[in-house]
Amino acid sequence: MATIKDVSKLAGVSVATVSRYLNKNGYVSKEAAEAIAGVIDKLNYRPNTIARSLAGKKTATIGLLVPDILNPFFPELARAAEDAANEYGYTVMLGNTDNDTAKEQRYLDTLIHKQADGVIISSYTIQPDHLRGLQKAGIPVVLLDNVFSSDSVVSFTVENKEGGELAVRHLLERGCRKIAHICGPLSITSSRERTAGYEAVSTGTDWFTPGLIAYSDFTVKGGHSAMQQLLVSHPDLDGVFASNDLMAAGALKALQEAGRRVPEDVKVIGFDGIQLEMMSPGLSTVAQPIYELGKTAVDVLIGLITEHPDIPEDKVFPVSLTVRQSTGG
Ligand code: RIB
Repeated sequence: MATIKDVSKLAGVSVATVSRYLNKNGYVSKEAAEAIAGVIDKLNYRPNTIARSLAGKKTATIGLLVPDILNPFFPELARAAEDAANEYGYTVMLGNTDNDTAKEQRYLDTLIHKQADGVIISSYTIQPDHLRGLQKAGIPVVLLDNVFSSDSVVSFTVENKEGGELAVRHLLERGCRKIAHICGPLSITSSRERTAGYEAVSTGTDWFTPGLIAYSDFTVKGGHSAMQQLLVSHPDLDGVFASNDLMAAGALKALQEAGRRVPEDVKVIGFDGIQLEMMSPGLSTVAQPIYELGKTAVDVLIGLITEHPDIPEDKVFPVSLTVRQSTGG
């Protein structure tokens, strides 16, 4: 049976354009409308598939749950999700869960109650059984940054372990000889993988000791106090890989307060690639394709809502190194 993707491919327009045409919601040029109509006829894409697609769209809303709206990573993600959702004629309901399981559950219950058509979840606390309500209500889910071992939920992550390795290798190339690591919450896959990347490169070197890893929480405050502790236990460290940019910002502050020059005495690299233009020195980072993550999450979710309920394969996005002054760039 023909799908919306077949129509978009043959008509030479995006899936979003076909969706706007079908839903009579938003602008579609005359040429595109004619091309789509022709392909729909040719593929016999109606009436069932159209009806199914429209029937699947109950409220034209999707939920987006994030753990910390004050972390610029999540507004950037939300921006992308909203842009993409608008393209399909959907609106986004945003929930900031504050890493609070009870608050997260209340949001999930509200989304079920309000009959959201689908939900994107980025969470440090979510567990497979927390999704039961959504699954019972037949509401599809896309999970970001966390992978559940079952195959009933699609997950999007980035090359976290490779990114951790990239960060440590970069510090070594820049001349660092004793590199500490500030790791994020161990409850999430991405954070554990970044630490695994640090360990893969540093274990076995003559400078490595497990005490060089400080456990933290993805916040500026957490990065600041982790750095203070590391400076006490390893005053001779000369490089730091923080598992996200906010903790790296906190580490930079602690280093400056301790009179350490960055990058001359200590080099610092973060992870995420959030927009922190106001920071001085500029922060080197392992950048995630944040916008693409948010947009693809919506594309896949809309596919699950309107196309077919088969769970697609998990997807791992590439990361890239951005070199700025904090590592001497
Ligand atoms: O900075 C927020 C972090 O939370 C990011 O690294 C992102 O991957 C998420 O896990």
